[in-house]
Amino acid sequence: MKSLTVVKFGGSLIKIPQAQNKFLKELAEISQRQRIILVHGGGPEINALLDKFAVTSKFVNGLRFTDESTLGIVEMALSGKVNRVLTTELIKNGANAVGISGKDAKSVICKQIKELGFVGKPVKVNKKLIDTLINAGFLPVVASVASDVKGNVMNINADTLASSIATAFKADKLIFLTDVPGVLDKNKNTIKDIKIKQINALIKDKTITDGMIPKIKGCADSIRKGVSEVWIADGTSGIQGIKGTVIKK
Ligand SMILES: Nc1ncnc2c1ncn2[C@@H]1O[C@H](COP(=O)(O)OP(=O)(O)OP(=O)(O)O)[C@@H](O)[C@H]1O
Ligand SMILES: [Mg+2]
Repeated sequence: MKSLTVVKFGGSLIKIPQAQNKFLKELAEISQRQRIILVHGGGPEINALLDKFAVTSKFVNGLRFTDESTLGIVEMALSGKVNRVLTTELIKNGANAVGISGKDAKSVICKQIKELGFVGKPVKVNKKLIDTLINAGFLPVVASVASDVKGNVMNINADTLASSIATAFKADKLIFLTDVPGVLDKNKNTIKDIKIKQINALIKDKTITDGMIPKIKGCADSIRKGVSEVWIADGTSGIQGIKGTVIKK
């Protein structure tokens, strides 16, 4: 069986066109020989559309509350825009890319985090759709939208989604590509490797904050559950010349 790599492409990288173009070209090429699942976020695109439609949101402990109108915009940005652009470019570069989201065929089922509105955390991955695609030579491009068990749409953190998919598929590798060179220490130097047991202290002393928190937690979770190689890497380095932080058991 060909090896399987789950790649999460940060929404943060969409604002760096050179990084995006290089990555999509490389990924299209790799996908001809390896099984790949691409997961993406789209923070900046969501914010731009919320501004455009003048939808204001309230924040709960620093996290955006997703009401019904915000959810509509989130799905429009992720599935309607970012997913379309990534899929189109991959196809132009020769990949058999297929754009879906976690809610298609109930691939990823979430439990609602009620305090945050229509936001969920993954509780179950139904592998059939994505499995069918990767084993038939397609490259699934998965937007970070999922549903609860009844099919109600939920916004889900793209890092958490990538990690739950990598775990369910027992991926050989999980790579988070983002807009920083890896996990940085307090002096802004890239930490070469981090052991799971160091993570809590790094969050507690505020070395790791904001969007890096779900990423590092996703890494830890996937490693504990059997994914052997996990990276938080520099989005501009691509995959073959990967540079960044390796998370270890
Ligand atoms: N110790 C750290 N090292 C590196 N970056 C950190 C650290 N702590 C917090 N960050 C922040 O995490 C950000 C990366 O997470 P962010 O959620 O913004 O991007 P992304 O996950 O790639 O994009 P998206 O969420 O849109 O998919 C960095 O740009 C940086 O501001
Ligand atoms: Mg993020």
